[in-house]
Amino acid sequence: MSNRIAVLASGRGSNLRALHAHLTRGAAHDAAGTIALVASDRRDAGVLALARERGIEAAVLERGATHAAALEALLRDRAIDWVVLAGYLRLVPASVVRAWRGHVLNVHPALLPAFGGQGMYGDRVHRAVLESGARVTGVTVHFVDEAYDRGATIAQWPVPVRPEDTVESLAARVLRVEHALYPRAVEAVVRGRVRLDAAGRAVAAPAPDGARAAFTLGEPEDVELASNIGAALGG
Ligand code: GRF
Repeated sequence: MSNRIAVLASGRGSNLRALHAHLTRGAAHDAAGTIALVASDRRDAGVLALARERGIEAAVLERGATHAAALEALLRDRAIDWVVLAGYLRLVPASVVRAWRGHVLNVHPALLPAFGGQGMYGDRVHRAVLESGARVTGVTVHFVDEAYDRGATIAQWPVPVRPEDTVESLAARVLRVEHALYPRAVEAVVRGRVRLDAAGRAVAAPAPDGARAAFTLGEPEDVELASNIGAALGG
């Protein structure tokens, strides 16, 4: 299976850069998938330039009444198997969610369902975390359904909140963990090791060699502190 991936994004594209680097790190024949298309709803999005620099088709899908039909037609025309959202600020049209159910993924910079939903993106998320007094935030990778940030969770990773944190320092720490978690979670799903079942749950399928599907992260700088938290709580 070709596993052709489309990335939908509205911003600078650091997650596209991390995903592309991860998928192209090994031998081409062993790649889990190929990013065949990057589409944005914003003509000036930095992600489009990043795509072109990597020889990936970059398309602009202006907002408006024909947006849903145009997006679905483009995904079909490019024979896309997987849709990966990376800072895509629009709701994925229900027709696309239906046609690619279980094949649309998103990354959110908090531990959903907390600090998620419509309007919760970017610095707004980290500001809400700091204002809440939460001592741990994190990253969530999930399947996309018809509502913002509601689909079944595929993977999460904790990121400690530090007393001296600002929105900027917390956002930067969370983004580094996104860049470690998202590419590995996308690879696990594209390789069939995690799938959306009929009941709408993310379930791990046994790896081909029978071992339980698991993927190890790189060592985000904060994993030690998160582990210490677990130990302190007897976890
Ligand atoms: C990330 O923080 C991601 O969690 C959110 O949108 C942001 C995209 O950042 N969904 P980038 O454009 O990939 O740098």
